[in-house]
Amino acid sequence: MALARLLKIEIPGEALVAVAKNESSIPALRIEALRALATQKNEKLPACITSAFESKEHSIRIEALKILAKFNPVLALDRVEVVLSSNKANTLEKQTALALLGGDLASAKGDSILNLLLNSFEECPPSLKLDLTEAAAVRQINAPDPDFTHTLEGGDADRGRNLFMNHIAAQCIRCHKVKDGKGSDIGPNLKSAGLQERGHHLEAIVEPQKTITEGYGSISLTLENGQSIAGLFESEMKGVIEIKDAEGVITKVASENVKERTPVISTMPPMGAILTKREIRDIIEYLSTLKSKK
Ligand code: HEC
Repeated sequence: MALARLLKIEIPGEALVAVAKNESSIPALRIEALRALATQKNEKLPACITSAFESKEHSIRIEALKILAKFNPVLALDRVEVVLSSNKANTLEKQTALALLGGDLASAKGDSILNLLLNSFEECPPSLKLDLTEAAAVRQINAPDPDFTHTLEGGDADRGRNLFMNHIAAQCIRCHKVKDGKGSDIGPNLKSAGLQERGHHLEAIVEPQKTITEGYGSISLTLENGQSIAGLFESEMKGVIEIKDAEGVITKVASENVKERTPVISTMPPMGAILTKREIRDIIEYLSTLKSKK
């Protein structure tokens, strides 16, 4: 069906309506049918949206809301209120609703929904705080700024994995492995990252210099005789510094022979300027699923 849309082949409205309304259709297909009906501006679309809202599948309800926001903002705002106060809606559905209030549904009514939630910001679930503060920022409503502490909860692990593997600027996989195989050993293997706190991941991602994983910090030394040595700082004990080079060979240097040394630094770039907060939230969610014990 996506192919038909790409090729601009018109599938008869009747067939689309049948798929869109059928709770036993495959969700991805049902979503495509809704999109195609929206493109056709089919007169049965509103009825299909209503039945999509009854679906047990979150993904279908979410798509229906996004479509409704485009062609009937007034009804979509009503739906947003339902979603935000419902305990059946999942996190992603509520996040979508909040994002719409800073996007397609930006309006006075949208602002009053945001203000209501902001009035009891402390009670807002942590998984929604980023979406709420971001929508408020777009609307220039007085609210706490979106901040990194709002990225600890509410991410999507699948999206996070995809970013980890494929983000062109962040390039996590250039330096890390998550199992044996793809990736490299410049940074620590993250296969057990999920056994650590989310706060640790956040700090490692946005402030890599703050705590440096043992054996992964870089240092360079200039010796009294003018020679310079650079590599990974392994240890410094009893007046001996151990430095590992790219091949894993360890050089021992007596501290007393060192004229100058750089601080131990992380080669990991701070990601706060490379990734959006939402992307960081997704990556944190992904890292917390990595729980290999070996
Ligand atoms: C240029 C190489 C490089 C890139 C790119 C890189 N890292 Fe790192 N990373 C490191 C190094 C080196 C360390 C160890 C030093 C430190 O603690 O900062 C590290 C440490 C970490 C840690 C802490 C691990 C521990 O044992 O506590 C996490 C989590 C992490 N990186 C996640 C990421 C994520 C997520 C990305 C992509 C968004 C990424 N890194 C991209 C090199 C890199």
